[in-house]
Amino acid sequence: MIGVCSGRPVSITGLGCYAPERVLTNDDLAQMVDTSDEWIQTRTGIRERRIASPEEATSDLCFPAAKEALAEAAVMGSEIDLVIVATITTDMLFPSTAAILASRLGAENAAAYDLAAGCTGFVYALTQGYGAITAGLARRVLVVGADTLSRVVDWSDRATCVLFGDGAGAVVLEEVSKGGFHAFELGADGAGGMELFMPAGGSRRPASAETVAAGEHYVKMNGPGVYKFATRVLVSSAETVLETAGRDVGDVDLYVPHQANVRIIEHAAKRLKIEQERVFVNVDRYGNTSSASIPLALGDARASGRLKDGALVLMTGMGSGLTWGSSVMTWTEGRD
Ligand code: ACO
Repeated sequence: MIGVCSGRPVSITGLGCYAPERVLTNDDLAQMVDTSDEWIQTRTGIRERRIASPEEATSDLCFPAAKEALAEAAVMGSEIDLVIVATITTDMLFPSTAAILASRLGAENAAAYDLAAGCTGFVYALTQGYGAITAGLARRVLVVGADTLSRVVDWSDRATCVLFGDGAGAVVLEEVSKGGFHAFELGADGAGGMELFMPAGGSRRPASAETVAAGEHYVKMNGPGVYKFATRVLVSSAETVLETAGRDVGDVDLYVPHQANVRIIEHAAKRLKIEQERVFVNVDRYGNTSSASIPLALGDARASGRLKDGALVLMTGMGSGLTWGSSVMTWTEGRD
């Protein structure tokens, strides 16, 4: 799916983030599995990640992030028309995490659903929110990217448990006077789906004593396979969306890629010819937070003064599915 945004401008008018308090360092992990701070930093760039408390489910991570986004946009819960939560770690299979969140926010006039596109979920959800607004179906959309991957990671598997963390980021989308989204490009390749998956707990292999004993309710990943896929699509999707938007890579003020691994990000930035000063990286502090990674990066980028009104922002996500998605937008502060 690919398209240029030609209608009235739609942008992010509120942004909020939440990361659980508990910090798990590489040294902590070295006490749990056969790994080291040196190995993790060299191969991934990750130093630490946040882990949800036992009482916190994904909707509990969404809630503070969403409240912050709504407050910044000066929008009440009741004024939201649509709530989309991008996640692969829903509170439970159903009801949707989005419906749970909408109720807590007092968004009684909103439709609400979850969107599963792995680490690409946030970009997919932005596209849906944009589409709902430009089609006249919604005036205000709340898009949340949130995951609690610590609940589905095998803490005895050193190849995966060192990579992930928990978090949430939320944005409010509305029509604005100028700027906002210029183009989107989304894709999926289900043939590669088994590179990154959770075998049991769905309709094909319902949870049973056997599936639990076999650890089939945990994330399984072919690391090198995903690495190859990620480096390829980060470049191709970014090039396509920029071309669609009629922009050049030199116009990009801030590149915000999915935060999976510093090596993947550096490889893509080099191929795209985007120097380090224009690339935002915070995977060192959060690990891979899946759907939350891009909004958490936007929040940190803004807090550190690297995301300003009028900046041209390129975001690209990639993840399970396999899926990928990019958007290019002009960042706006406020509606005017
Ligand atoms: N600590 C120490 N050694 C380890 C660890 C660890 N945590 N994990 C693996 N190793 C070992 C392996 O057992 C292997 O040992 P061997 O050579 O004796 O067999 C060795 O390190 C090399 O393993 P590789 O898997 O080849 O290591 P690689 O350099 O490919 O790095 C990594 C692994 C970091 C997982 C890399 O493949 C990667 O980043 N892949 C992308 C995965 C990803 O980002 N997934 C996130 C979800 S999807 C998404 O966001 C796109």
